[in-house]
Amino acid sequence: MTKILLIGFMGSGKSTVGKELGKMLKVDFYDIDAEIEKQEKMSVAEIFAIEGEEYFRQRERDVLVSLSTKERAVVASGGGVVISARTDELKLYDVVIFLHATADDILKRTSGSDRPLLNVPNKEDEIDRLLEQRQHLYESAADIIIQTTSKSVKEVCKEILEFM
Ligand code: S3P
Repeated sequence: MTKILLIGFMGSGKSTVGKELGKMLKVDFYDIDAEIEKQEKMSVAEIFAIEGEEYFRQRERDVLVSLSTKERAVVASGGGVVISARTDELKLYDVVIFLHATADDILKRTSGSDRPLLNVPNKEDEIDRLLEQRQHLYESAADIIIQTTSKSVKEVCKEILEFM
C-alpha cells in the first residue's frame, strides 16, 4: 500500500496521524489544506472569506487528484473532502482510512481554532449537523475505520499498520 488517504471530521487527527505515519513508513506526507494554502498564498479561513467555499472545494478536489499521482504518499485531507470529491477520485488512493472521533472529542480538539465552518454561535449544534450529513460518507469511502477516542497518535498509527 503506497498511497494512503486519511479522511475524517475536523479535529479527528488526520494531520498529526498522517505526519507520524509518514515517518513510520518512510513515505512523504502531504496535507491538502496546507498544499492549498501554499498555492493560494492565503490561509483556508482567508480563502473561504475572500473566494468562497465553492472555490475552496474545487481546489481541494484538484489537490486530492494531483497528489494521487505520487508513487508513494501519506495524504491528510480536509474534513470536507467527502463532499468535494467523487468516490472514484477518493479511490485513486490505495487505501482510505477514516479516523473516527466523537462529537465531544471534536468539540474539545477544535476549540480555539479558526476553522471557518465552526466559526458560528452554536458550535456544538453545527458539529452535530455536519456529522449527521457526513458520517455515512466517511464510512462508505473508507477501507479502514479507526476509533481515535482515548488513543495516542502512536497507538492510532500502530493500529493502521496492523490493518495494512
Ligand atoms: C473543512 C475542514 C478543514 C478545512 C476547511 C473545511 C470541512 O480541514 O479543509 O476548514 O469542511 O470539514 P480539517 O479537517 O483539517 O480541519
